[in-house]
Amino acid sequence: MELEELPGVGPAIAEKLREAGLNSLEAIAVASPAELVATAEIGESTAAKIINAARVAADIGGFETGEKILERRQGIGKLTTGSKSFDDLLGGGLETQAMSEFYGEFGSGKTQIAHQLAVNVQLPPEKGGLNGSVIIVDTENTFRPERIKDMAEGVGLDYEDMLKNIHVARAYNSNHQILLVEKAGEVANELKNTEKPIRLMVIDSATAHFRSEYVGRGTLANRQQKINKHLHDALRFADINNAVVMITNQVMVRPDAFFGDPTRPIGGHIVGHTATFRIYLRKSKGEKRIAKLVDSPNLPEAEAVFSVSKAGIGD
Ligand code: GTP
Ligand code: MG
Repeated sequence: MELEELPGVGPAIAEKLREAGLNSLEAIAVASPAELVATAEIGESTAAKIINAARVAADIGGFETGEKILERRQGIGKLTTGSKSFDDLLGGGLETQAMSEFYGEFGSGKTQIAHQLAVNVQLPPEKGGLNGSVIIVDTENTFRPERIKDMAEGVGLDYEDMLKNIHVARAYNSNHQILLVEKAGEVANELKNTEKPIRLMVIDSATAHFRSEYVGRGTLANRQQKINKHLHDALRFADINNAVVMITNQVMVRPDAFFGDPTRPIGGHIVGHTATFRIYLRKSKGEKRIAKLVDSPNLPEAEAVFSVSKAGIGD
């Protein structure tokens, strides 16, 4: 179904919506009336009508019974990081149907963890994997097949087979990145009934393009709105595909901090509220790294030490 088929949406309005990134029924269904009013220059009541029609068409936004939710949650899988202590911190590994944000300064291990997860997701469940394949949205051109080789050797498997199950797309700018995550749904659909369905999506880095493109105060609200929608797309992907979504985020220095750690993640509260788990990474001595679970719906705030070596993530 095209946007133009929604009541009250003519070609001109459809064009404006698409330009603003509201290019699918799902995106419109979860948009706020104020968002539509601002982007399409329409009245509040028209906006509400459009959103309602999109909700019906896209079949989202209704109520579910607790029983149904429990049933879905029983299907949640856990993906190992490769480090026992790190997994313990996360209650057994990274959960599917959720988004986990890893933030930390350069060299803190975000991209290394992303590579390790791309290897581990292919393992069978008894080894902490999900028997799946992976989509990587690479925004900084830091994906390295050589590291997959090291890490595949680390778990004793053939790297050439592993590389076949890693689908990498380079995102050239934030709009391209948004588009790739929308496209990821199509790839997942194609692989759904194969031996290796997509069970992991990595966005490394989720925020870098947005940060460099939207500079200046006037564009900040616009940027946050786009990041917000983008991350909700990713979260939806996690739900629909019973997949782990792992995103990375840099930190920026907070000049006004007098106490504690003077850094904070980019994207601020928007990313924070969308991510189900937030993990803050810090460098320690040599290969050692410290992971801190900052935010989780059902686990205590705590820290774990892990290491990054040639063979990958370990204790
Ligand atoms: P930014 O993307 O720059 O923000 O950093 P990041 O958090 O993604 O850092 P990344 O995961 O790329 O970590 C890089 C660090 O991992 C290096 O500084 C090394 O300490 C370590 N590392 C990467 N490759 C190897 C390797 O082959 N052997 C060992 N021992 N360490 C490695
Ligand atoms: Mg990196």
